[in-house]
Amino acid sequence: MNILIINGPNLNLLGERQPDLYGTETLDEIIGWLRDHPQAAGHSLKFEQSNHEGDIVDIIQANRTWANAIIINPAAFTHYSYAIRDALEAVDKPIVEVHLSDIKNREDFRETSVIEPICLKQIVGKGKQGYLEGIMLLTGDSN
Ligand code: DQA
Repeated sequence: MNILIINGPNLNLLGERQPDLYGTETLDEIIGWLRDHPQAAGHSLKFEQSNHEGDIVDIIQANRTWANAIIINPAAFTHYSYAIRDALEAVDKPIVEVHLSDIKNREDFRETSVIEPICLKQIVGKGKQGYLEGIMLLTGDSN
């Protein structure tokens, strides 16, 4: 299965950004861990990160024939980007939304996700494990 994994704004600063909330690992370390994970074996994972809303729309569109499914941590765009939601809906694939932190137990503005209604599942508060759970859900591999 070809899975596109998109990370939104400020997630390029993982490791130094609020480590109490987001952990001490860098995005590259998390990507390496996912790529090496037995549950990823036999699947193609493509990782993209951008700080820009339009770039994320372009990434979704550019991968619409390659990707069988998408995992996205839209970061702050989660809470207001109808452009990213529309792009995800337009490509008509199974989508999993992942957040490292528990957005349901932080500031009020983080409780709302405009992306969640078009997703198979929203996974929050499990750190990097959330991406792995998303891969397992999409590939149907629960071992
Ligand atoms: C986040 C949660 C968002 O509210 C926040 O804007 C982020 C990261 C998370 O992974 O917990 O940048 O998506």
